[in-house]
Amino acid sequence: MLLFNTQRELVSHLNSISNEKTSIGFVPTMGALHQGHLSLLEESLKHNSINVISIFVNPTQFNNAEDLAKYPKTLDADIEKIKSVSDAIIVFAPSVDDIYEGKTISQHFDYDGLENQMEGKFRPGHFDGVGTIVKRLFEIVKPNNAYFGEKDFQQLQIVKKLVSKYKIPVNVVGCPIYRETNGLAMSSRNERLTQEERKKAAIIYKTISQAKKLFALKSAKEVTDFVVREFKKQSDFELEYFQIADEATLLPCTRKTKGKKYRAFIAVFVNKIRLIDTISLN
Ligand code: PAJ
Repeated sequence: MLLFNTQRELVSHLNSISNEKTSIGFVPTMGALHQGHLSLLEESLKHNSINVISIFVNPTQFNNAEDLAKYPKTLDADIEKIKSVSDAIIVFAPSVDDIYEGKTISQHFDYDGLENQMEGKFRPGHFDGVGTIVKRLFEIVKPNNAYFGEKDFQQLQIVKKLVSKYKIPVNVVGCPIYRETNGLAMSSRNERLTQEERKKAAIIYKTISQAKKLFALKSAKEVTDFVVREFKKQSDFELEYFQIADEATLLPCTRKTKGKKYRAFIAVFVNKIRLIDTISLN
């Protein structure tokens, strides 16, 4: 395993080992790695001869200072987990200065409206920060394939849009959500939950799974009302949003249209810790 802390060293190494026969697979992360992240790495390893993972808590995508300050940082443990997947993975863990060179600000992006829904609505500026870092990382690593989780489905669609708008030559691959045995979607933020909260948080996946079943029979509005009612019963949980949206445009579903793919999106606070999840509805 090779660890690089600066873009200069990483680029110089990648230049020395890549040629027209190699393929670079890339998994961008913010660390505090769990099995969900590792499943992306495993996918990358299947299809690429060079595999890079970045670990960088990107300040410009946090709209909440406390969330950024409390974001878990576990580099040593992360490295051990990466080694357990393969010894041949290249780790890129730069400093904020190395990436932002003193100007820790986002570029503004137009993602044709994808940014105005859900996470974009509730976390102003978030997707400008994501676009800024992902574009920069793509420019540094120059991957052939980049792997993103469907856990952050809106992010995945936005990265696909970014790549097509800026004609970045990378194939963006979406990977399935990895869950704990009780159904809770794995997330670095789960680290901040108590054992009790972690158990109770199973209600999120349970409720969106029920919503999926209901959606076969009921309207988006009726399903949304059901989810809102379910969370009103849960004093430890505060529902921020539940939205059923068209998978391609992310616009809310007002009337079901045949042939369209729909997906439910949810954000819930558990004791100030914000958890998101999503499920395909057809
Ligand atoms: P982070 O939250 O660390 O997630 C890194 C990647 O892992 C993302 O593509 C995310 O969707 C995926 N992931 C997280 N939990 C997952 C799970 N349970 N199953 C499958 N995949 C999962 O997303 C980010 O970091 C950042 O926004 C980043 C893209 C790195 C830009 O800073």
